[in-house]
Amino acid sequence: MKLVNGFDLMDYAKKYHHVLPAFNTTNLEMTYAIARGLMEANLPGYIQISSNNLRLSNPRIISLIAQDAVKTSETPIALHLDHGKSFEDVKACVDAGFTSIMIDASHLPFEENVKECRRAVEYCHFYGIPVEAELGALQGKEEDVVNEAECKTDPDMVADFVERTGCDLLAVSVGNVHGLCLNPKIDIPLLTRIDEISSVPLVLHGGSGIPKEVIWEAKKHGLIKINYGSDLRKEYIRTFGEAYEANHNEHDVIHLSVESVDNVSRKAKELVTMINEN
Ligand code: G3H
Ligand code: ZN
Repeated sequence: MKLVNGFDLMDYAKKYHHVLPAFNTTNLEMTYAIARGLMEANLPGYIQISSNNLRLSNPRIISLIAQDAVKTSETPIALHLDHGKSFEDVKACVDAGFTSIMIDASHLPFEENVKECRRAVEYCHFYGIPVEAELGALQGKEEDVVNEAECKTDPDMVADFVERTGCDLLAVSVGNVHGLCLNPKIDIPLLTRIDEISSVPLVLHGGSGIPKEVIWEAKKHGLIKINYGSDLRKEYIRTFGEAYEANHNEHDVIHLSVESVDNVSRKAKELVTMINEN
């Protein structure tokens, strides 16, 4: 199957009542591993890469790898730009064949966030690609971005934000955190309030560490996509770290890379299955 359009993926998830995992990749091994995990579970989801991670490669390379990784898939998989930092990144990813986009201007004042998102939406919608935008800010560490101050999503700003940006998914801050240093405390009543107001489905960033029961409850209140980065990166790093600890003369990159694909795909399969158990 080819990479599917993000709108089609969301329609599929709504039709079959799936929560869609969005797994962060960085490189070739993790991209193949994520695709394999989703394919083995036979459950849909996203391969995603953040602007920050594109330093090691570029949108065209990641798009080519992802296209190859999903070519035998029987479950729909989209390729998503995560935490898009600029219109230039958005444009480069759309032009490279990404099928879903996030523009993350949540660090800006409200009006500037709206303006940045609106510009990205106009470009992406011209090519029939959905856009995720973020309102509020998560605490924690997302790759090289550390955010100390949590700023929960204000329900009173949601309707205006979604309307004026034209976004298709809304990433919210309801006690979820980036990374593994802080414990998420998901405010379900706040998520419920936002879901009642929002005309688009909701996204939880910081999936690593959120208990499955909380995800199952959030699914009742608008959750369609949940992002996982740290849980998979940990599996990748652990593979090489354990080998090196065992033998400081370790230099079999191929064997360890294959093992890292096994470990990351196992984690991806475990997570996508867990969030859709209920
Ligand atoms: O956008 C990526 C995710 O929000 C990563 O969050 O590393 O806490 O799973 P996580
Ligand atoms: Zn995130």
